[in-house]
Amino acid sequence: MKKIIITIDGYSSCGKSTLAKQLARKLNYTYIDSGAMYRAITLYFIQNNVNWSSHEEVVAALKSIHLDFVINSLTGFGEMYLNEENVEHLIREMVVAEKVSEVAAVKEVREFAVSQQQKMGARKGIVMDGRDIGTVVFPHAELKIFMTADIEIRVQRRFKELFEKNKNITIEEVKKNLELRDYIDANREISPLRKADDAIILDNSHLTHEDQLKLVLQWVEDAIMEHSS
Ligand code: CDP
Ligand code: CDP
Repeated sequence: MKKIIITIDGYSSCGKSTLAKQLARKLNYTYIDSGAMYRAITLYFIQNNVNWSSHEEVVAALKSIHLDFVINSLTGFGEMYLNEENVEHLIREMVVAEKVSEVAAVKEVREFAVSQQQKMGARKGIVMDGRDIGTVVFPHAELKIFMTADIEIRVQRRFKELFEKNKNITIEEVKKNLELRDYIDANREISPLRKADDAIILDNSHLTHEDQLKLVLQWVEDAIMEHSS
């Protein structure tokens, strides 16, 4: 079967990576979590006291950053490595979430990440999720999905995940972070979060994991048919 590029963009915590992983598994595609790259760059900046308002400091710091996705043989999915260190868990912590949208709005950071993402997508059979994948990274992707869900539902979903690891986290803190990130991501000057004109909207507020997969597999089939002729 012909392989395509599938892009999934949307607001924070609406289920993009869950859907991307489901599709990758079912279709035997490679899943790439573009947000993990921005999170790893942010972690590096925090750890090394890089001032991301300074063009010179950002340019110098990016020269010292090497990002890699290394496949975890148990899950079959790539995990984020920053300068040869596995940071998959560290990048999900609140300290990173609090700063990542500011860092991701910096021009040089975006250029650095986007050029690597485009190289990874040189071959087909890719599912990539993020904020600008259908608009900027792969504007010619065969299937583009724009995901959304009610804010209260997204907050509950992310809270549940974070609370399992950190019992001190509060719902208010999670909600504030999601709202702030959505605001910065949608209003930044470079590559703001927006729906690509040819993206299909998926509101999964009331869909189970199974429902959303079933629906999107049909879209994949349609996109493959459309681009085979
Ligand atoms: O999974 P979650 O929705 O929390 O976010 P993520 O996909 O891990 O992305 C973290 C942050 O990285 C986002 O809030 C954006 O600021 C930034 N990002 C971006 O600017 N462009 C992308 N393609 C992916 C993420
Ligand atoms: O990647 P993104 O930040 O958009 O979200 P995610 O990490 O894939 O999903 C956030 C949480 O929502 C996860 O705990 C998923 O299991 C959950 N989820 C859900 O409850 N129902 C769905 N239909 C999709 C995701």
